[in-house]
Amino acid sequence: MSGHGTPIPMTSYKSTGLSGVADVPGDKSISHRSLILGAMAVGETKITGLLEGEDVLDTAKAMQAFGAEVTKHDDGSWSVHGVGVGGFAEPDQVIDCGNSGTGVRLIMGAMATCPISVTFTGDASLNKRPMARVTDPLALFGAQTVGRSGGRLPMTIVGADSPVPVKYTVPVPSAQVKSAVLLAGLNAPGQTVVIEQEATRDHTERMLAGFGAKISTEETNDGRVITLTGQPELKPQTIAVPRDPSSAAFPVCAALITEGSDVLVPNIGLNPTRAGLFDTLREMGADLTYEHLREEGGEPVADLRAKYSPNMKGIEVPEWRAASMIDEYPVLSVVAANAEGQTVMRGVKELRVKESDRIDAMATGLRANGVEVEEGEDWWIVTGKGIGNVPGGATCESHLDHRIAMSFMVLGLSTKAPVSVDDGGPIATSFPIFEPLMAQLGADVRRS
Ligand code: S3P
Repeated sequence: MSGHGTPIPMTSYKSTGLSGVADVPGDKSISHRSLILGAMAVGETKITGLLEGEDVLDTAKAMQAFGAEVTKHDDGSWSVHGVGVGGFAEPDQVIDCGNSGTGVRLIMGAMATCPISVTFTGDASLNKRPMARVTDPLALFGAQTVGRSGGRLPMTIVGADSPVPVKYTVPVPSAQVKSAVLLAGLNAPGQTVVIEQEATRDHTERMLAGFGAKISTEETNDGRVITLTGQPELKPQTIAVPRDPSSAAFPVCAALITEGSDVLVPNIGLNPTRAGLFDTLREMGADLTYEHLREEGGEPVADLRAKYSPNMKGIEVPEWRAASMIDEYPVLSVVAANAEGQTVMRGVKELRVKESDRIDAMATGLRANGVEVEEGEDWWIVTGKGIGNVPGGATCESHLDHRIAMSFMVLGLSTKAPVSVDDGGPIATSFPIFEPLMAQLGADVRRS
């Protein structure tokens, strides 16, 4: 869990010449899914490269509470001995998902069609986030929910005794909602159909197929129609978790704005539902290249090389690309502040319901550091000052949000005066080695 400890104030100072290799940790989305699907399979799933961030460790604890055996081995690998689809036991304790929206929403889906009652909670950030987007479709399967006003945690879900399959059109572009419905559909007889109008990350679909479920995706005029046949026996898998493009974003963007930098970020998954940031940066004029482009485990993978890019220009980020880079807008806004001209980001309402209201958190912190930002409910515009021209000097609130804290630490590497955050503690939820990794590249980021 995060957000319960003593705040860890951090400051980043102007740096030059970031160089070397940035080995970022495993993908958060795939790590959660490996543990949950492993727990729903019959037999032992083996996982290497699991992200050992707080969010994922909370999911591992939850899977143990549902009766799966989850073990970390001496060689750093993990194994999950699953209980089978529909085999979850009722936990003795409240399930605390800490800071993790992905953890809680996916687990709610996975248990909603089991005849058990489960109470969920999280930290101050998670307990503010909307859960009705998940509990509404879960009710269609027959699950019942009692939570706080506004559909917020803590919340108890009584899983359906005799679940029925559903057909559901996801009203917001959310892979968490889509995945919750698919995971619930696993223990419903017949076919569960999920329709999404905008393509979101497709790790759940790919992994369900890998675990042996019958699942198909069809592109239609109404969107992507995903059809899952319920009550399969999931077969245990050996999973090598790829490195997280959302974590790679931080050393990549740091290198682009820090004078004299040349950083290699190896083995990054470039699944098109995740890689929108890198396309956007290249359109802005970033010196970002893909080396050794290859395929691993059915996913495109490359080593990213990012070099100092003093001539980047602001662009209008295509709205259709938003879902594929939704977690990367905070750090993109830092690059935008160092570009020439305006970077316009539209169709990004979802940013307001992440670990924090990310438009508000970044706009407030950027303005305090001398950058002009305009915003509306689902858009924001950053007016760049050109590389190295951002004044800096302010302390920003991280609002219990790892990506906000890391984004401001990247900002401070090129500002005239240092940039601080009130609490870098949440960084441990997704990128526990952020500080040593940045130090090893030559970035001056310190606890203050
Ligand atoms: C995730 C989906 C996205 C993303 C989150 C991880 C997932 O959330 O922001 O960090 O693993 O499914 P939404 O489903 O709310 O868009």
